[in-house]
Amino acid sequence: MNIRPRWTKNILIFGGTALWGLLLISCVVTNRTVVAPPKIAGAEFVGNKECAQCHEDTSKHFGSATHAKVAVADPKLGDTSCEACHGPGSLHVKAGGSKGTIINPDKSPESCFQCHLDKRGEFQLPSAHPVTTGHVTCTDCHEPHAGNAIKGSGASLHTQSESCTECHTAQKGPFIFKHNAMKEGCVACHKPHGSVNEKMLTAPDSNLCLQCHATGSSPGRLMAGGRDHAGNPVNGTCWVAGCHEAVHGSNVSHALRF
Ligand code: HEC
Ligand code: HEC
Ligand code: HEC
Ligand code: HEC
Ligand code: HEC
Ligand code: HEC
Ligand code: HEC
Repeated sequence: MNIRPRWTKNILIFGGTALWGLLLISCVVTNRTVVAPPKIAGAEFVGNKECAQCHEDTSKHFGSATHAKVAVADPKLGDTSCEACHGPGSLHVKAGGSKGTIINPDKSPESCFQCHLDKRGEFQLPSAHPVTTGHVTCTDCHEPHAGNAIKGSGASLHTQSESCTECHTAQKGPFIFKHNAMKEGCVACHKPHGSVNEKMLTAPDSNLCLQCHATGSSPGRLMAGGRDHAGNPVNGTCWVAGCHEAVHGSNVSHALRF
């Protein structure tokens, strides 16, 4: 479902500058749903420079963050991207920075959903990471304060899969017989947010495997791994018991069995 961006008055705070114009264009082109920062009653925007005075550590590497580019400079305040997620900070600053005067997203995905509307739906699909209950958070896999927002991408030494296997240790290996598909990352087969398919798979059936393995097939022949699979039961998936159930890697068989 594509929801069109709802441009509210808030967005005007970010100015009608060229970059914001660019984001608007990209939203229209890709149908991304970027909306508006969260609100705090009675508070106004103060700009990143104010935050940096007290939050030096969080601000130090923020220039490299994906979201540093999100909110565009107001000529009077400079960049306001901290407040894009935390809400306007004037009351917080006036109070000398006490708790409860600014939004701390902590384990809640709500500030993220404010702009990434489409993600709310993804996490409600039948098989999804439990972010709405706080058991998994957006920041388990995303970095708000430095570098690329997708952990394990960009200049990071960490891979994207490593951010998954921190929790999913069984899929980490090392395995004696590796499945080379794992080199493509977990997202070769899984939707990281949620999916209509079981186990958050990108496809419900053997097409998941055949996208890489169906080489040299012809009518009546289903070649995979150099062997005709046309006679294999069609009612199961490639990973049913007795076939390739050790899809992530095996310690007993090169054919990925347990
Ligand atoms: C005058 C110093 C000061 C300034 C300026 C300041 N903060 Fe704070 N901030 C603090 C202090 C002190 C705390 C409370 C720390 C604690 O008690 O753990 C805090 C807490 C926070 C928290 C956690 C709030 C909570 O309820 O847990 C966030 C988020 C935050 N600041 C963001 C910002 C942002 C964004 C800005 C700029 C708009 C900013 N701060 C400006 C001093 C400041
Ligand atoms: C993309 C959204 C986003 C942006 C932009 C952002 N933050 Fe945060 N911030 C978060 C989230 C989510 C948390 C809570 C989870 C965490 O600690 O990583 C957080 C937590 C914090 C905290 C509380 C940390 C603690 O330990 O309690 C402070 C302080 C803070 N941010 C300051 C800033 C400052 C200063 C900036 C700008 C330089 C900024 N944030 C920009 C999303 C953001
Ligand atoms: C004020 C709006 C706003 C908020 C709030 C916000 N984002 Fe974003 N986010 C954006 C925009 C704009 C982009 C760039 C979109 C694009 O790629 O066209 C973006 C990009 C991203 C990306 C993609 C990075 C990439 O390299 O492709 C991730 C991941 C992301 N945001 C996660 C989060 C998370 C997690 C939170 C909450 C902690 C959050 N965002 C809060 C506006 C926001
Ligand atoms: C379990 C890990 C995980 C969690 C939790 C997670 N993400 Fe992601 N997200 C990813 C990965 C991995 C990608 C990159 C997908 C790819 O490379 O195909 C991604 C991509 C994105 C993107 C950019 C691409 C797109 O789909 O638009 C956005 C925006 C985003 N996530 C937002 C969020 C928000 C908001 C939350 C919390 C509500 C969240 N994510 C929670 C792993 C996660
Ligand atoms: C912070 C820990 C954490 C991280 C990081 C994490 N996951 Fe998860 N994952 C979970 C939890 C918790 C569940 C829900 C388990 C349940 O419902 O029994 C889950 C469920 C899953 C499932 C579905 C399992 C099932 O039985 O239906 C898959 C597949 C999965 N995650 C893949 C990934 C991928 C891929 C990544 C990286 C992009 C990732 N996870 C990152 C904690 C995490
Ligand atoms: C080649 C495709 C493929 C890749 C790549 C892949 N998976 Fe899977 N994964 C599957 C399939 C298929 C299942 C379902 C297995 C089943 O139901 O027996 C699955 C199941 C899972 C489960 C649920 C396990 C359970 O016992 O129910 C988790 C968790 C998981 N994968 C995590 C990951 C992580 C983390 C990565 C990356 C390190 C990854 N997967 C990479 C295909 C893949
Ligand atoms: C992203 C591409 C990709 C996907 C998706 C994929 N594979 Fe693979 N698979 C490979 C590559 C690359 C190899 C190693 C080279 C080869 O043998 O073709 C491999 C090897 C194998 C092998 C070992 C063959 C041997 O004789 O050593 C088996 C078995 C296998 N895959 C089964 C599966 C199953 C089952 C699925 C679906 C759950 C799947 N693959 C999905 C890329 C993929």
